[in-house]
Amino acid sequence: MSTTPSMQPLIQASRGQAPSRWPVWFMRQAGRYLPEYREIRAGVDFVTMCKRADLAAEVTWQPLRRYDLDAAIIFSDILMPPMAMGQTLTFDKGHGPRLDKPVRSMADVKSLKMADAQKDLGFVGEAIALTKTKLKPEQTMIGFAGAPFTVASYMIEGQGSKEFTEVKKLIFREPDVMKALLEKLATVTTDYLKMQIKAGADTVMLFDTWAGQVSPSVYRHMIFPMTNKIIADVKDATGVPVIYFPGQGSDRLYELTGCHADVISIDWRTRLSNAGKILRGLGLNVTLQGNLDPQALLAPESEIRSMVLAMKTEASASARSHIFNVGHGLLPHTPPESLSIVIDELRKK
Ligand code: CP3
Repeated sequence: MSTTPSMQPLIQASRGQAPSRWPVWFMRQAGRYLPEYREIRAGVDFVTMCKRADLAAEVTWQPLRRYDLDAAIIFSDILMPPMAMGQTLTFDKGHGPRLDKPVRSMADVKSLKMADAQKDLGFVGEAIALTKTKLKPEQTMIGFAGAPFTVASYMIEGQGSKEFTEVKKLIFREPDVMKALLEKLATVTTDYLKMQIKAGADTVMLFDTWAGQVSPSVYRHMIFPMTNKIIADVKDATGVPVIYFPGQGSDRLYELTGCHADVISIDWRTRLSNAGKILRGLGLNVTLQGNLDPQALLAPESEIRSMVLAMKTEASASARSHIFNVGHGLLPHTPPESLSIVIDELRKK
């Protein structure tokens, strides 16, 4: 069986057509809040799970077995490309990701391998192709990558960060090094997304989780243009719609003039109606995705239902179309039943 984009509510909505039903999926829908995920994860380290197509496909399917979702997002991580470029990726318990040999100089940037997506990251394509064999034609296969700045942040800091000190040192003291790293990542990322589409992704999403860590002017001049070029190149080459997520950055929406994305994913810090107004003000006629606070899923059932209802009303007045989602990834303490409540409320006529 294969997926058929023209029949998919998520693709219809992405293109600004009236979807056959309100599309819904959840960022990090495959993850530790599901006992069946934790069971597999107990025996395998995270990187191996990403590299083995059978395991990656299995955990990608897990949420689709439980819930009536409109999309599968391939189980992987935004830190696969740095690995393919020569950094070693490890996940220590309770600490999050670590990359060795942090990138801090032009020599470090030059020594990074220009990864070849097919050769070095082909396992992601394999997992996408395998996942698709069990999707319905109406379900969308989503591929993804991190946007260059967010991925660069981990490559430079060597881990997650609160202050982003090493990143800021490069931005303000050695902007040429920062630009060279972002450019190299943009090339690798474009190739990587095209490979995922060739393998069967019906759409791709660019995660720019840390977009809100820099000033509007740094974002506008140094960071966003590189991301926007990836979006334009991927769309030109493949014709598939692209989703862009500028994380932590309600304010980032003002900087998206000329954005080529079809869908902008909004975190919970902005009202959908405000997001719609800002983007329309820039001349962008896009679809919105989001933006329930993932922690709102801790609320009692009646409260979840009324939040979904309120979002539904607000969304229809905010943009040409809307894809229901959370404003950031689901957390390990998310009650799995809460997702069923959201979907049930969303499907009510
Ligand atoms: O959405 C999905 O279901 C697809 C899979 C996916 C993962 N990571 C799986 C994952 C996606 C789209 C990502 C993106 C990602 N990875 C981002 C951007 C989006 C975001 O959430 O901000 C970032 C910044 C990363 C980097 C990363 N990977 C971090 C910071 C962590 C540790 C966080 C944590 O919760 O421990 C990861 C690990 C990770 N990626 C997990 C999953 C399911 C948890 C790993 C585990 O099982 O221990």
